[in-house]
Amino acid sequence: MKKLFYNISKLYGANVRGTYKKGIEMQDIAIIENAWMLVENGIIEDLGNLRDIEQLASLKLQCQEMIDLQGMEVLPGFVDSHTHIVFAAPRHEEFAMRIEGATYEEIAENGGGILNSARKLQVMSEEELFEQASKRVELMLKHGTTTIEIKSGYGLTVDAELKILRVIKKLKEKFPCTIKATFLGAHAFPAEFKNNQSAYVDMILNEMLPVVVAENLADHVDVFCDKGFFTVEQTDEILRLSAECGLPAKIHANELGLTGGVQSAVKNKAWSADHLEHCEENEIAALKQGFTEEYGGTMPVALPGTSYFLGIPYAPVKQFMQHGLPVALATDFNPGSSPICSLQTIWAFACTQMKMQPVEAFHAITCNAARSMRLENEVGSLAKGMRADFIATKTKDAIKAIPYFLGKNHAEIVVVGGTIV
Ligand code: NIG
Ligand code: FE
Repeated sequence: MKKLFYNISKLYGANVRGTYKKGIEMQDIAIIENAWMLVENGIIEDLGNLRDIEQLASLKLQCQEMIDLQGMEVLPGFVDSHTHIVFAAPRHEEFAMRIEGATYEEIAENGGGILNSARKLQVMSEEELFEQASKRVELMLKHGTTTIEIKSGYGLTVDAELKILRVIKKLKEKFPCTIKATFLGAHAFPAEFKNNQSAYVDMILNEMLPVVVAENLADHVDVFCDKGFFTVEQTDEILRLSAECGLPAKIHANELGLTGGVQSAVKNKAWSADHLEHCEENEIAALKQGFTEEYGGTMPVALPGTSYFLGIPYAPVKQFMQHGLPVALATDFNPGSSPICSLQTIWAFACTQMKMQPVEAFHAITCNAARSMRLENEVGSLAKGMRADFIATKTKDAIKAIPYFLGKNHAEIVVVGGTIV
C-alpha cells in the first residue's frame, strides 16, 4: 500500500542516502520546504517540494492513503546509539548519596553502582524485565526515538547476561522500531572476581560469548574500559575474540580518566567510542587516524546526560569538530548515571553545556548516530530508499526551538516504517 504524507511546512535532514557529517559539514542542513513524501512498504519511495495543486492531485492518484500533516515540520526519527534500558530498578538511594557528596566511583567501590543493579536483575524474572523494558521503549518512542541500541551488562553471570539479551531479542520482535543489541558482559567485575579478574574475563570469553554468538543474541560487543573497571589489555583481548566471532565493537571509553580506551577502540576498529569525558591531544589524534578509506572510523559518541547527572566533565566535542571529526550523541539511558529517556533533552544539553549549535547536535542524534551503528543507509536521514521513520512537530523552527524549549516533548506524531505509532 502506497501512502502520501503531505502539507509538511519543512522537512529536515533530507540528505543523500548514506550521509553522515564530519566537522564543519555538521553545520549544513538539508531542508525541503512545503514537502511531500511517498512511502511504500515502510520505505521512502520519493519525496520533494510541492510545486502546485496539480502535482498534489497526481500524487494522490498513486496512493491508497493520504495523510495531511497540517503544516507541521518533519524530522528524521531520532537514533539512540547507547542505552542500558534492561534494568530491574532505579537507584534513588545512590542519587541521594551523591547529592551528599559521594562520588560515582566511591559508590561503585563499595558494592553500589553496576553491582547493585546486577544483584537486583539477577533475581528478577525474564517476563518482569521484559515488561519494564517495554515501557521504556514506549517512552522513548513517544519522544521520537525510532532506532535504539540496548546493552546487556547488568547481569554479570552467564545466566543473567543471556537473560538480558533474550529480553532484547523479544523487544526486537515486539516493536516496529529498529533495535540493536550489544553484549556488555564486561561492564564490571562481580564481587567474587575482585581478586581474580582474569577468571571473569575467561568466563566472558569461554562461557558467555559462544552462546551469544550461537544464539545470535547480539549485534555488537562492548567493554567498560576505564579506571577501576577493565584494563586496555583485557579490553583488547575481549574485542579481538569478539571480532573473530563477527561482533563489531562499540566501547565505553575515557569516562573516568585518560585510560587508553580511545586508542584501544581505534586499534580494534570499533564502530564507536562512547563517553570521552576525558580526552586530550592523543585521543583526538587516535580518533583522526581511524578515519581511513578502508576502515571508516570510530565514531566519537558523547553522552552529556551522564556528565550532567554525575557532575563530571563534558566530552570536548567542539574540539573534535574543529579537528574535522564527526560527533554523535546518545542518552546512555540507565539507572545509575543517566536516567534520561529523551534525545530531545540530550539535544538541549549538547547546546547549553557543550556549546554545540542546534543544527550540529541535530546531526549528532540523527545521521551521525546512525553511522555509529553502521545504519546510515537505513535510518537517520529522510531520503529515497531509507526507512520512513520520522517525527512531525507543531514547534515552528524545530531545529532551533526543540533544544531551546527544553523539558517538553515536541514529537506530536511519531512514524515508524511509514506507520503512525
Ligand atoms: O555508561 N559507564 C558505565 N556504564 C554506564 C553506567 C552504569 C551504571 O552506573 O549503572 C554508563 O554510564
Ligand atoms: Fe553506558
